[in-house]
Amino acid sequence: MKVETFETPQDAAKALAGEVAELIRTRAAEGKNVVLGLATGATPLPFYAELVRMHKEEGLSFANVISFNLDEYSGLDRDHPESYWYFMHTNLFNHIDIKPENINLPSGTVKDDEIAAHCAAYEQKIKDCGGIDLQILGIGRTGHIGFNEPGSDDTTVTRQVHLDELTRSDAAPAFGGIENVPTTAITMGVATIMGAREVALMAWGEKKASIVKKAVQGPVTVDVAASYLQKHPNAKFLLDKGAASLL
Ligand code: F6R
Repeated sequence: MKVETFETPQDAAKALAGEVAELIRTRAAEGKNVVLGLATGATPLPFYAELVRMHKEEGLSFANVISFNLDEYSGLDRDHPESYWYFMHTNLFNHIDIKPENINLPSGTVKDDEIAAHCAAYEQKIKDCGGIDLQILGIGRTGHIGFNEPGSDDTTVTRQVHLDELTRSDAAPAFGGIENVPTTAITMGVATIMGAREVALMAWGEKKASIVKKAVQGPVTVDVAASYLQKHPNAKFLLDKGAASLL
C-alpha cells in the first residue's frame, strides 16, 4: 500500500482526478470503457469538483465511463436529499456527460424480501462489466470503507448492514438529528472492494488521523475494514497533512 501526502485536499483531489482523466482518455482512444467505483461523503467533493471542471473546461468526456457506487442508505428514495443517488447526481452526474444507463447505485427502497437478490445482481453486474478498474474510497472513523463496519471480513460482498453508532452520529447533523439517520444500508463488501484492480482512498483532516494510522500501520484486522487494503496489490492512500499527522 502506498501513502501520498499533500499540502491540501484540493492538491490531492487534483492529482487523483488527473490520473482518472488519463485512464478515461487512454481507454477512450482504445474504444474501451472504464469502470469506476465511486464514494459519497464530504471527502470526495473536491475530487468531483475537479472532474466537473475538467469536463467543462477541458472537454473530458465520461461517455465511456460505467460507475458503481459503494453504498446507499436503506429507506431513502432517490429524491431524498441525503440519499447517495441524490448526492451523486447533484455533485457529479448532472454536470458531466456520463450515460444515465451506465450509472449504478444500490437501491435504498428495495423490499426486504428482495434485498438478497438485489445485492447478488449488483455483484453480478460488476463482474459482467469486467470488474472495477479503479475504486475511489473515503474512510469512516470506525475504519469503514463503504459501510463495512467493524466485524466485516474480507469475504464480505454486497449486502445489507447495520450502521455503527459512531457512523450514525457523524451523519446526524446532515439528517437534522441521529433519530433521522437510517440504521441500515446496502454496501459493497470488503471482497468487492478488494476485487478492484486499483484502489484510491482519500482522507482529510486531523479527525481522521488516528483511524488512518490504524488502517495504514496497524494490524490487518476485521476491526478496521480499511486495514485489508494493506493486502491489496495496487492501493494507495491520498492524505492531506492533517490526516497524515500521526504516521
Ligand atoms: C461513502 C462511504 C463511506 C465514506 C466515509 C467517510 O460512500 O462509503 O465509507 O467514505 O464514511 O465519509 P466522509 O467523507 O463524509 O468523511
